[in-house]
Amino acid sequence: MKKPFVSLAVAAGLIISSAPAATYAKPVEAVQKQAKHGFDHKVVNNLNVENTYNHIRYLSQTPRVAGTPEEDNAVRYVKEQFESYGYKTEIQEFTFFGYTPPNKIELSAAGFDHLKPESFTYGVNGNITGDLMHAGLGTKEELAGKDLTGKIALIQRGSISFGEKVINAAEKGAAGVIIYNNAEGSLNGTLGGVDERYVPVVSLSKAEGESLAAAVGKGSVTASLKVEGAESGERISHNVIATKAPTNKNKAADGVVVMGAHHDSVPGAPGANDDASGTASTLELARAFKDIPTDTELRFITFGAEELGLLGSEHYVNTLSQEEAREIIGYFNMDMVGSKDAGDLSIKTVDGKPNIVSQLSQSSSTRLNGTPTPLEAGGRSDHVPFFEAGIPSASFIHTPTEPWYHTPEDTLDKISKEKLLDVAEIVGTAVYSLAHPDNQGPKTNKAPKKAAPQDRHEQNLQ
Ligand code: BES
Ligand code: ZN
Repeated sequence: MKKPFVSLAVAAGLIISSAPAATYAKPVEAVQKQAKHGFDHKVVNNLNVENTYNHIRYLSQTPRVAGTPEEDNAVRYVKEQFESYGYKTEIQEFTFFGYTPPNKIELSAAGFDHLKPESFTYGVNGNITGDLMHAGLGTKEELAGKDLTGKIALIQRGSISFGEKVINAAEKGAAGVIIYNNAEGSLNGTLGGVDERYVPVVSLSKAEGESLAAAVGKGSVTASLKVEGAESGERISHNVIATKAPTNKNKAADGVVVMGAHHDSVPGAPGANDDASGTASTLELARAFKDIPTDTELRFITFGAEELGLLGSEHYVNTLSQEEAREIIGYFNMDMVGSKDAGDLSIKTVDGKPNIVSQLSQSSSTRLNGTPTPLEAGGRSDHVPFFEAGIPSASFIHTPTEPWYHTPEDTLDKISKEKLLDVAEIVGTAVYSLAHPDNQGPKTNKAPKKAAPQDRHEQNLQ
């Protein structure tokens, strides 16, 4: 006689019924039911967090900015590790348009000591001297009828973009531009992209800018401005892709489960947590799975240039054919998964709705920890391009984030082995509930769709 079916999620008090008219409702329940019968230990027993920690130790020796030799070194390391576990490993190269900030910025003005200028992303080099001229907000209207030939335009932040201010002043003949803040704090902006009309530009704080403006109001002030070492151009970054083929070659393929993280960091940050932690966890999951038979293909990917706008994951997803995208059952993203100083673990989906990745992870966290890891809406990482291509995806992160996020203090000593292990266990057992032989789950994803891009990084354009 058939036993009445009670899904684990329901038993655990999870509200799966809040899922959208779930294409996956049945298969997810079937997978969850099977998982209850105890496959978790096969993965959990294989994980050794000392390996994860040692990968972070290696990777976080330097920042790993996309397109730099330090990223190349991380890529080589990740590839060698995947290969040492016996996986077929591919390096996927892609290009992007990059900007290297200046290594020298100087600003001096008669009567002013110790000005602290900062640069703008996409700003150009130059070495100029000229009289300061106050140019208001630098709008076209304000500059109409003004001649700025040879002058350094002093412009207040606000109303139009930084890039427009520089172009408007340059078109009136300015040799350089200073943009000062309209609020407290330093101004770290971007011109939004390259433009051949730009002249050298630096930023100043509100207080510095206002005192220069006051001096200009009283008489002529000569200033010198120097920007050196800035460089725009094509750069190369890489994704690293390791494949674990389905174990039983005689069976029809059961789809692909993908897990991964980004290996690049922001400039100046060793990125122990962001995201050597996710990269190292991807490596340790790959090692843990190497001798475990699976019916689905497993794919372990580390992405480049995430910090520059999810470029690596976007490139990866764009290179998939419709058929290849459909074969991917789900993508598990790990970004910032080991900080001692961050809050509790959460699962982010781009639309905040449950999908097969979040549901299986909530089930596995319930089995392992007694409570489901909470599901929240969130983008800002490599699960976004998968979502936009119609592939179920979710990202693991501890929130609130640690104070060291994107700083030079994001170092190994801030890493918690306990947190790392918790995430690897939740992801590994959720993946295995889909991948183990004979599970009754979905074999492929439904037809991929293109959704509108959303929740990207808002740049400091104004
Ligand atoms: N790991 C972060 C994402 C993050 C940080 C999510 C804090 C939630 C809280 C990621 O590496 C990152 O910094 N992403 C960029 C977005 C990207 C599109 C450039 C960001 O959030 O600024
Ligand atoms: Zn990150």
